Amino acid sequence: MNLQLMYSSELIQARTRELGARISKDFHDLPLVAVCVLKGAAIFFADLVRSLSIETEMDFVRMSSYAGSTSSSGKVTFSKDMEIPIKDKHVLIVEDIVDTGLSVSYLRHVLEARNPLSISICALIDKLERRQVQVKVHYPGFVLQEGFIVGYGLDYAEKYRQLPGIFKLISEK
Ligand code: IMP
Ligand code: MG
Repeated sequence: MNLQLMYSSELIQARTRELGARISKDFHDLPLVAVCVLKGAAIFFADLVRSLSIETEMDFVRMSSYAGSTSSSGKVTFSKDMEIPIKDKHVLIVEDIVDTGLSVSYLRHVLEARNPLSISICALIDKLERRQVQVKVHYPGFVLQEGFIVGYGLDYAEKYRQLPGIFKLISEK
């Protein structure tokens, strides 16, 4: 596999600070729970919450729709639930990538039933090519038309998550 740089660590940090500033302005003085979708969003989440100038609670969920491949099976499971109650709080779902939209729509649907004040979605990458369900990403980091990317938390078969930048994965001919 070859890696081609798409978003440098510096660019990601700068964009994350911008998102953090916008989120801080929008949720100033409001009860906010930031929910990290494991594992892909873990590194982005850690940087994003540290760029907030407001108080937030942090929680984690784990779902899976990919089984070590670059194409989604379309099947979503929810294997680790939140621990913090979200009733009467604002919820910010923090995703690595919204691709087909199936996982984040499922999560949104599950959390809506718990009566939060609102649910917003922040995704480092809003990838358009394979979208199957309409999803509003309120806080997109970068919009990507197509391609499979790794690094900064994103994996291919559990590899490359630790890279500080984001790279396009190109298979050798
Ligand atoms: P969706 O349900 O198709 O929107 O899938 C979202 C999940 O698929 C993301 O949270 C990622 O974990 C994974 N995914 C989608 N595209 C990529 C990619 O280009 N690289 C790595 N993971 C991806
Ligand atoms: Mg993921």
